[in-house]
Amino acid sequence: MERTELDEFVNKVRERSDLVSVVSRYVPLTKKSGSYWGRCPFHNEKTPSFSVNPDKGFFYCFGCHAGGNVFKFLSLIENLTYFEAIKLQAERLGIPLPSRKKSSEEIRREREKRELLKINELTRDFYLDELAKTPEGESGRKYLAGRGITDATIEEFKIGFAPDTWNKLTDFLLNRGFSPDDLTKTGVAVKRKDGSGILDRFRGRVMIPIADIFGHVVGFGGRILKAEDEYNPKYLNSPETPVFNKRQILFGLDKAHLSISSSGFAIVVEGYMDAISLVGAGIRNVVATLGTAFTPDHAKLIMRYARKIVFCYDSDEAGQRATVRALPIVKNAGAEVSVVQVPDGKDPDEFVRKHGRDAFVKLLKNAVPLVEYRMNYVLSHMKISTLAEKISALREILPTVVGVEDATLKAGYRKQLSSALMLDESTISREWDAFLRGNSVKSGVYPDSSKIPPKKSDNVARKKLPVGLSSTGVAEEIILRMAWHEPDVLGYVMSLVPKEVFSGVHAEIVKYLEKCIEEEKRPDAIDAGAELTDEANAELSRILIGGSEEPRDTELAAFEDSMKVLRIEWLQIRYNLVTQEADKIFREDYDAYAKKIAESLKIKEEMNKLRFETAKKINL
Ligand code: GTP
Ligand code: MN
Repeated sequence: MERTELDEFVNKVRERSDLVSVVSRYVPLTKKSGSYWGRCPFHNEKTPSFSVNPDKGFFYCFGCHAGGNVFKFLSLIENLTYFEAIKLQAERLGIPLPSRKKSSEEIRREREKRELLKINELTRDFYLDELAKTPEGESGRKYLAGRGITDATIEEFKIGFAPDTWNKLTDFLLNRGFSPDDLTKTGVAVKRKDGSGILDRFRGRVMIPIADIFGHVVGFGGRILKAEDEYNPKYLNSPETPVFNKRQILFGLDKAHLSISSSGFAIVVEGYMDAISLVGAGIRNVVATLGTAFTPDHAKLIMRYARKIVFCYDSDEAGQRATVRALPIVKNAGAEVSVVQVPDGKDPDEFVRKHGRDAFVKLLKNAVPLVEYRMNYVLSHMKISTLAEKISALREILPTVVGVEDATLKAGYRKQLSSALMLDESTISREWDAFLRGNSVKSGVYPDSSKIPPKKSDNVARKKLPVGLSSTGVAEEIILRMAWHEPDVLGYVMSLVPKEVFSGVHAEIVKYLEKCIEEEKRPDAIDAGAELTDEANAELSRILIGGSEEPRDTELAAFEDSMKVLRIEWLQIRYNLVTQEADKIFREDYDAYAKKIAESLKIKEEMNKLRFETAKKINL
């Protein structure tokens, strides 16, 4: 699309859009002296502070300061990107999108996708027939019946059966003119190890088709009938293909979205069978992830239909960890999150089969809000006997609690925290306020970044040193602790030493911190707990607990000194490298050799200076 063509299109949509009527679809408005007023849809309020000015074409909320033009409004309320909002409004107004010449590459890719979807659809129909009509399918039918899955549910999800043969599906599709390449690309077939042709990927499994939001079959999950073993995983899933991206697909959403819209919330479960079972029991607003983590894309997908998301993962430790990991993702997406814990039976499927629909609905009614869930999780997963432990537990909980606006709730949470941690309320308040101060500017830019130590700092030299500073391990710890509480520091650290200087588990923690900065989120021990290896996790807890009681200025001094220690480490590595290189080229290229030597001398000079500074203090 040409730039000017696009501008014209956007202008046309804007001109024809009537802001008042667009907003009125979502918010009842009343006219008052030239403007329209209503209750803001973007925050909770009792008296209207949301205004729409039709002449200027802007809306503005005096309560939460949301504001902008018609597209901004749509993008906020429909959870769309700005351009998607323009397209949505164009659609509503019947303005056609400007036509655009497709590149040959695009045409090729679209054709490929259509081909893949066609193969998937034929494959699904093949599996359906196998389940319904063949003697072998009998074992699949028995299995499903044994799990309480009715014919109606089988029909609804179009569950099928892959026979335990090497080539039945492959032959079926090859006979319909598809190439072996097409079949392996779709993932329904795999290449033989010896290279002599292809064979069926799924054999002897109950086949669950996975659809995109339009109902196109994009992949399959296949469950074995017997117990799993090392050669036969419980589930075999389609590989990622141009039409199948697990981070962007939620199983069941094609069937659930109407019910999600009308009920106002979505239930997210872990397993295909949980979703199938709940739908079978008449609970329809349910989707499942595909055995992978819940992603921001998943959150966005759901929020097109409802703002509330209820997690109902397995009640085992893995399920609870996955829940904890998903929470910040949905919270960041702006959803209202709560968690249902399945009390009896490992997963929602078992629970609903055992106790029935009504019991599950009751569970939903008692869903625990995010804040309480997080509080309980931290309290049951962290040691809270010493004061330091209590404070670090509190700091884990605060990020979720401090956002609560309701004053009564807030007071309640403070009381709850105080009695659960056996800390007096003034300590809770102090930490609470400190957290708010440190976090009041959005997206990782903290107001007290002025605390970041200057690169050259003379007064530091006179301050007391922490024990064992001579060890780089301890220096790394001090730096990590500082970077954890003030992520801005990391950029400064990285400008002086590359992350490779950090030893094994410390490097892993650095990587996590970098990721936090990239994703504009605050480092969070629970979130980290899910991402780091056990070893790194243990180390992180040790580091964080170790520092929580230190007064601020000694911490800063220690940080600056630790930076020097690490910088020396890095300089030494570089010095060795550069002198080695110099030795190598000594015979061939004298000029280059001289340059290398000059470089090495510079490194040595900085190293010596730093060594002198730190040695003075460590009294070596
Ligand atoms: P069953 O009730 O045992 O049939 O399974 P489930 O639906 O309760 O699934 P479970 O809670 O065991 O696992 C959750 C999800 O993880 C499954 O629905 C799959 O998407 C995925 N999953 C489970 N086991 C495997 C496996 O062995 N391999 C792969 N690739 N994915 C699996
Ligand atoms: Mn299960």
